[in-house]
Amino acid sequence: KERIFSGAQPTGNLHLGNYLGALKRWVALQDEKDCIYCVVDMHALTILPDPAELLNSTREITAAYLAAGLDPKKSIVFNQSRVRQHAELAWVFNCIARIGWMNRMTQFKDKAGKDRENASLGLLAYPSLMAADILLYRATHVPVGDDQKQHLELTRDIAQKFNNDYSDRIASLGIGVEMAVGDETVSGFFPMTEPMISGPAMRIMSLRDGTKKMSKSDPSDLSRINLIDDEETITKKIRKAKTDADAIPSEVEGLEGRPEADNLIGIFAALTNTDKAAVLRDFGGKQFSEFKASLAELAVAQLSPITQEMRRLVNDPAYIDGVLRDGGERASVIAEETMHNVRDIVGFLQN
Ligand code: TYM
Repeated sequence: KERIFSGAQPTGNLHLGNYLGALKRWVALQDEKDCIYCVVDMHALTILPDPAELLNSTREITAAYLAAGLDPKKSIVFNQSRVRQHAELAWVFNCIARIGWMNRMTQFKDKAGKDRENASLGLLAYPSLMAADILLYRATHVPVGDDQKQHLELTRDIAQKFNNDYSDRIASLGIGVEMAVGDETVSGFFPMTEPMISGPAMRIMSLRDGTKKMSKSDPSDLSRINLIDDEETITKKIRKAKTDADAIPSEVEGLEGRPEADNLIGIFAALTNTDKAAVLRDFGGKQFSEFKASLAELAVAQLSPITQEMRRLVNDPAYIDGVLRDGGERASVIAEETMHNVRDIVGFLQN
């Protein structure tokens, strides 16, 4: 059976990139699939050492999940640190993964900067915890934005090495499942998780610079639309968004070499659930001023109900905590089932 797992870090506000690259797609999946959505507070600890901020952010991000339409009756919604098995499996994976694999991660290189010797061990091991998040639930599919692609490849590498290193043990315990890896059929304990990275919004760029990713850490607030922004702010940011002087092209090829234009058209397409070609059929030949007015209207119409609901929910922390507690209990049942098997596989005495 297909199982979806994904998550976001509670480090400040979510922005339009998080919404279109992740949240909006998570909501769409919850009717058809078995979905687990996590607020990854243990990951946030790698960059957010302030306890009050971490607590606050965890509730805020949960409010954003719920306001965007995640339904705790349909999906499991919880915060990572509540389910201890994440840390436990991450340790096992720390002993599977190689330091060289971690050193190659571009996110680590970006975040650690020049002084790598001084980066926390947690920042280096981050992808191993992420693999544990996914594989603890033996998730088959993970909807994420493009920036997480490398981490998902690493997750598959970890699953494969685990399956391989312990193949005899898995076979003798009789808990392997058959799965296709390339052209071969192999037996293993962990699935080869598929990333779900497709559509026009997998990499939303900064509104100020079409070559940089829209990100929480950009010092310019004009570079991103935050889910918490009011209508006026959203409209202003779109009006001020960088564009070039040419008119909008009529075909997708015309977006080449025009990163700002490409980004805004992609955002429009994602908000309306179409593709860039369809947007260009409507706006080809028009000026950006006209297009931006439509985009602002669209963004406000789609985001402001979410913003309002978020504001309402953050005033009800008891409700949010209850959702996370209940989600955590449901997640723990699945997590413990996997972890029980993993302890048997690696040879931890537990009975
Ligand atoms: P995080 O918290 O940085 O981002 C959450 C989700 O938003 C996507 N995203 C974007 N999509 C399109 N354009 C952008 N500019 C943009 N910026 C962010 C991210 O790709 C992500 O899907 N390591 C993860 C959190 C994580 C996780 C997991 C995800 C921890 N464990 C297990 C999936 C499965 C992260 O830092 O995402």
